[in-house]
Parts: sequence; structure tokens; C-alpha cells
Amino acid sequence: MITLKNSQATSTDKPRSLPHVPVLLKEVISGLNIKPDGIYVDLTLGRAGHAKAILEHLPNGLLIGIDRDNEAIKEAKNILSKSKNRYLIRYANFKDIGTILDELNVRKIDGAVMDLGVSSPQFDDPERGFSYRYDARLDMRMDQRQKLTAYDVVNTYSEDELNRIFKEYGEEKYARSIARNIVKVREKNPIVTTFQLVELIKNAKPNRELKKIGHPAKQVFQALRIEVNDELSALKDAIDVMTKRLKPSGRIAIITFHSGEDRIVKSYYKSLSTVVGSRNGPPIDPKNVEKPTFALVTKKPILPTDEEIERNPRAKSAKLRIIERL
Ligand SMILES: C[S@@+](CC[C@H](N)C(=O)[O-])C[C@H]1O[C@@H](n2cnc3c(N)ncnc32)[C@H](O)[C@@H]1O
Repeated sequence: MITLKNSQATSTDKPRSLPHVPVLLKEVISGLNIKPDGIYVDLTLGRAGHAKAILEHLPNGLLIGIDRDNEAIKEAKNILSKSKNRYLIRYANFKDIGTILDELNVRKIDGAVMDLGVSSPQFDDPERGFSYRYDARLDMRMDQRQKLTAYDVVNTYSEDELNRIFKEYGEEKYARSIARNIVKVREKNPIVTTFQLVELIKNAKPNRELKKIGHPAKQVFQALRIEVNDELSALKDAIDVMTKRLKPSGRIAIITFHSGEDRIVKSYYKSLSTVVGSRNGPPIDPKNVEKPTFALVTKKPILPTDEEIERNPRAKSAKLRIIERL
């Protein structure tokens, strides 16, 4: 049998699924400071790598695991079924974390973890249309119940909207010329597949750009994925709720994989852990100075070691930030 290289693979070629390695696992577990009888939420359950490790530290507590991908939910249920400790799993978008906790009669939590972005199984399944490495229909939905797909974004958004998404979510230097090329090509026929899109992105970039390290479609694919899954606004909604639901000395650990996500986490953490005053106002009696309600556990983000990156290349751009309620 001839094995196709990734770039030649067709949508029917499913690559072997790689062993699952959770990113920054040790750092997340020690950073959460888990109370054995606490209530913890894993908002991005995936293949339950972090959840399983948290559960091992929760002999008398409860773990609530959430994911918006039904495939992940099935896998996670299977993996966690061996655990004797208490857990509940919900197939939902983490932006609805407030409603989920209400339905479970959970008012306050002791900690939460988010390991953002796409999981390896999502990325490695050609049929999900997340990867520029496999030819597939443009899809990129994490939740298959959702209507909007990457096909809709590519074929119906205006040139200006596409330009904005590619710039904001992908930091793509050639956003405008790619957007223009998309609009021109789709006038004749819709853009249906990942490889059609890759070709069109390559055509919109100068040759010298194509010689650079890294796939030329990486940024645009990232931007489309963020748009299709409305990732950044879901993240803001979830941080808002979680910080309100956290008990004193409870912690939130968030792993991000690109600057858009990290900026959101960093600025939320900063605003929660500082009290804004005015330099030009009258002197304030120190007794009346408001104390912040949160403290940064990580002043600088924790990054994976070289050894972790070598073992698990997908950890490369990970950044872990942790905050604690005082
Ligand atoms: C990087 S993986 C998590 C891997 C997991 N920590 C593990 O060790 O197996 C990210 C997961 O988050 C899920 N996800 C992303 N955004 C979500 C959202 N808004 N609501 C619920 N799940 C989400 C994805 O479906 C994916 O399964």
C-alpha cells in the first residue's frame, strides 16, 4: 500500500491518531492548588487529559467537564469511566457556564481550567476541515450542531469583513489581497475545499513570502476557525462568569495558543488584580484604598520547556496564566 504524504492526502485518508499529551499538565495541576473536596470545572474537556489528572486529586470533590464537540464528549466519557471519583460531563459551549452551574445547583467553584483552541483529534481528522494539510470541505465547526461553517464565511462575507477577520484573528499581512482574491474567484464558482482555499491564498502572496518558514495558509485558517466558532467572545463570556463564581483562594488556569486569546486573558487578569486610581486626584487615606479581589499567581505566563516542545510540538505556542481570588 502506498502511503500518501500529508499534503497529498485526500479527505478519506484518516491519519493514525497520535497518543494524547496534555499541554503543561504538571504546571496546571500544581498551579490549581487542588482542594481534595473542591468543585472544579474543566471548560475544554477534549480527551480529558487535564480532567483525568484533576480528578485524581479530588477524592471527595466534584469535577464538571464541558466540551462543545460531541466526539470529544464521547472520548472523555470513555476515558473518565475508569475513575471512581465524582464527575459530571456536559456537551455545551463554555460561554454558557453560568447556566450549566445553575442547572447543577452549583453556586461557587474552587477552580477552573481552560486549554483553548483546537484539539489534536479535531485537527488530525481531515473531514473536520480544520487543517490546510488535508483536502476536505471547508467546515471548521467544533460543534457540529452549529449552522455556520468556514464555507459560509469564505463564500458569503464581504471583502471588508474577510479582510478584518484575517487581520484581527490571523494577523495576516496580506489580508486585503487574500480577501480580494477570494471575492474574485467565488464570482465564478463557490470555494468548496481547503485545498482550493490554500491555492488561492498562495496566489495572493508574493513569491518571497512563500519561501518563508511556516505554511502560507496558517494564519488565514486560524482566523477562519476563530470566526466560525466565535472563539474570542465565548472566552470573554466564560472568564466573566468564572471569576464571579470563584470561591476565595480558588484559582483559574488558562492556556492560550495565540496572541488574540492571550491578550484577552492578560487584560482580564490585570483589571481584576489592580485597583484603578487617579494620580491627579486628592491624596487618599491608605485605610480607604480599595483592595483588589484577585492576585496574579503567574506574573509572567508559564511556557513549555524545550523538552516538552520536543515531546509534543503542539505545545510550542502555549502560554499558561493563573489567577487567584483573595
Ligand atoms: C486543546 S483541546 C483540550 C484538550 C484537553 N485539555 C485534554 O487534555 O484532552 C480544546 C477543546 O476545547 C473545546 N472547546 C473550544 N472552545 C469551546 C467552547 N467555546 N465551549 C466548549 N468547548 C470548547 C474543543 O472542542 C476542544 O475539544
